[in-house]
Amino acid sequence: MPNSPIRVFEGFPHVLRSQQFDPDDLRYLFQKAEAVRHTPSIVHGLLTGQRIAILFSEPSSRTFNSFIEAAELLDARVRANQHMALFSSEVKGESIADTISVFTAYGYRYFVLRRKEEGGVDEAAVAAGPSCSVINAGDGAGQHPTQALLDVYTIWREFTLDRPLSVGLLGDLRHGRTVHSLVYLLAKFPNVSFAFFSPESVRMKEGILEHLREHGRMYAEYFYGDLRRYVGGLDVLYVTRPQIERVASDEERQAMRNDYRLWTVTPEVADAMPASGIIMHPLPRNEELPTTLDGNPRARWREQMANGLWIRAALLAWIQEIRDAHAG
Ligand code: NCD
Repeated sequence: MPNSPIRVFEGFPHVLRSQQFDPDDLRYLFQKAEAVRHTPSIVHGLLTGQRIAILFSEPSSRTFNSFIEAAELLDARVRANQHMALFSSEVKGESIADTISVFTAYGYRYFVLRRKEEGGVDEAAVAAGPSCSVINAGDGAGQHPTQALLDVYTIWREFTLDRPLSVGLLGDLRHGRTVHSLVYLLAKFPNVSFAFFSPESVRMKEGILEHLREHGRMYAEYFYGDLRRYVGGLDVLYVTRPQIERVASDEERQAMRNDYRLWTVTPEVADAMPASGIIMHPLPRNEELPTTLDGNPRARWREQMANGLWIRAALLAWIQEIRDAHAG
């Protein structure tokens, strides 16, 4: 790793929400991610002898597997369980605190958790204590901080973060945890302004809008209209799927799908963006992002996916580096 002084991020040793990172932390992490992607072997052995439990209670393709790949790149011993909600004692009513105690008894000091309930990771962090790291890999409709780290890394590689940037976020902004974490993180940069596109029923959470107002950040909300008319000034269009699993009834699900029809990103919408504009999506996608856009020069979802591995490897390396410095 490059020989720079070690930074400690707020809330260390846990990573529970994206606000824990400030712009200088991000630059530090992104430089690390650049170094790892250039020469992956520089992180080999950093987690030798460390056990990491990757425990998911909600479905995942990218986050689950990229954390396994990242941990293995650092030579950790990995216990990865994607079926907690089906086959662990969680089904029998076990609390997350009791589950954590199983693994701490076996010497685990790293936990990557995806929980159904918002805030469930906080309880886990308390149970795990200061000698362990709990990393939030998505807590219900709450946050997904490592997704925001890889998303901002993707934006930084494209634009840097030193100039005015106009970011549009589109989709289910109420239930989508990726957009929550992304807005909190980008709100650290005074030069970023936001446009929110969504059905009104799933508009951005009031608490987050309030946060933007309190910090003097500019935003606008759009609930209807032709997307092509709105995207002409956007550097980034960040698209998300309807989170139908987070609404209760079939009627609500159908209503959400219908409301979403307005917000499909067609090739014409992409063409209406500036030539340097990019389109992002955390995936998985539904109809809002047709596969016909996959070859579009503005598409960045494949880059995001790849960046997830480098950012998570860099984050694990950073946490261990701080631990080693404290121990030494
Ligand atoms: C997201 C998630 O799980 O929040 N997926 C991901 O981690 N890339 C987005 C989603 O489920 O819509």
